[in-house]
This record gives sequence, structure tokens and C-alpha cells, in this order.
Amino acid sequence: MASRITVLESPAQVDRAVAWEMIHCMLENPSAVLGLAAGSTTDGIHQTLADIWRSAPFDISDVRFFGLDEIVMVPEDYDETCIADFQRDLIEPMGIRLENMIMPPSQSDDYQAEAARYASRIKALGQPDLAVLGIGIDGHLGMNLPGTPFDSGTRLVMLGGELEQRLRKSGKVNPGAPIGGITLGIRDLMNMPRLLLVAKGAKKAEIIARALEGPVTEAVPASVLQLHPSVRVYLDREASSRLTKK
Ligand code: GLP
Repeated sequence: MASRITVLESPAQVDRAVAWEMIHCMLENPSAVLGLAAGSTTDGIHQTLADIWRSAPFDISDVRFFGLDEIVMVPEDYDETCIADFQRDLIEPMGIRLENMIMPPSQSDDYQAEAARYASRIKALGQPDLAVLGIGIDGHLGMNLPGTPFDSGTRLVMLGGELEQRLRKSGKVNPGAPIGGITLGIRDLMNMPRLLLVAKGAKKAEIIARALEGPVTEAVPASVLQLHPSVRVYLDREASSRLTKK
């Protein structure tokens, strides 16, 4: 596996290390393209990045960002979308122009068309410089749930399993209504030249061990990263606790 694993003591140290990786990337290339994951793992990273940037601002007007996925088919007033996270933690505090943040919309009357448009907008950016990935406790990457073929591309998915339960827990989606996602596929992620995988907390320990040290299998989507030529993994002590080859 062509990855380097960095284990840090605390979640806050992971946030700082990953935020600095992202800053380094933007300083090296003022028109960098960065892929972002939403969720509890990256919230702290994005807040840390915005804090550092505000204390020592540099030009980000040409940096382009894209989200790895978005929740769709949710009501207008649903406020737990990925773009809402990015808005709160990055777009607002760093003054990122909306045209520099590529995300599919959460509401549409043609989600298939939105998925295709999102894919072509990301493709038009060229090779991303860096994408930061979180991992679900079932090993999902983006919204590529267990069982997703490794050659999957950007598409509309219907959510299920742990991810669906988590999103429904807020009670903001009508119990009978379907819940979907538009996500980059495993193939899209694997085609990116540089990836960072981040996990924090004891609840991620088992899946991190399975993803990084277990068999490469579509049953654990993140295990595909063992085949990627350049993945850097950042873990806090707890998330690393089940690894045997530390
Ligand atoms: C969500 C997102 C992923 C994220 C993952 C982990 O479903 N679609 O992009 O990385 O689940 O979420 P969290 O960081 O909240 O544990």
C-alpha cells in the first residue's frame, strides 16, 4: 500500500495537520483544485483551516473546490446538507465565491441530469491537486456504500444502511420519503492523484483496521484505497487503536 499513516494524539491535532496540508496545497498552487468531504470528521478541519486563513490570509480567489457528494431529494428546509456544512465552515468565513464551489443541488426535478452536470463540471477543472476523504463506520467513501463496484462513476444513488439511518435520525426527512445522494464514484476517487483519508475517534477504529489492513473488497469500499498510489492517512490515537502494523 502506497500510503503513509500519521497517528496524532488528539482530534484537534488531526484537524491542524490536515488543515495545513490543504493550506500548503493552495500556497503551492494558487489555482489549486481541492475535493472536500462534509461530516463530523471534516467540520473541525474546515473550521481550523478558516481560522488559520483569517489570521494570515492569502489569495484564494482562484482556488476551486468541489464536494465529494451531496444529499438529495430532501425538503427545501432540510439544513443538514453538505453545502450547508461548507457554507458555515468555509464559504462564509473565507469568502469563497460560489462559482468556485462545485456541488450538485439538493433539490431538482431531474437528479440524473444534475449528476451528469456535476460530473462534467468537475472534469472541466482538470486533475484535482488534493481530495480529503472521511470514512463511514461501514467503510463507505462519499456515498459509495458497501457493495458498490470499484469501477463506479459519478451518479445518483439511493441511500441505505448506516448512512441513511444517520441522516434520518435528525427527523427532518419525512419517514416515508426516499433519500438520495449524488456522489463521485469509487473510480473517480481512485483517479485522483493525491488523497488524504481522515478518521477520528474510537468508533472508527475497527473500520480503519479493516480498510487499511483487511482484504481489498467491495464489501468495504475504503479498502480500495490500498490500491491507490498516493494516499496519506491521518488518524487520531483512538481511530488507530485497532491497527496491527503501526
Ligand atoms: C458521510 C459523507 C462522507 C463522510 C462520511 C463520514 O456519509 N457522505 O463523505 O466522509 O459519511 O462521516 P463523519 O465524518 O460524520 O463520520
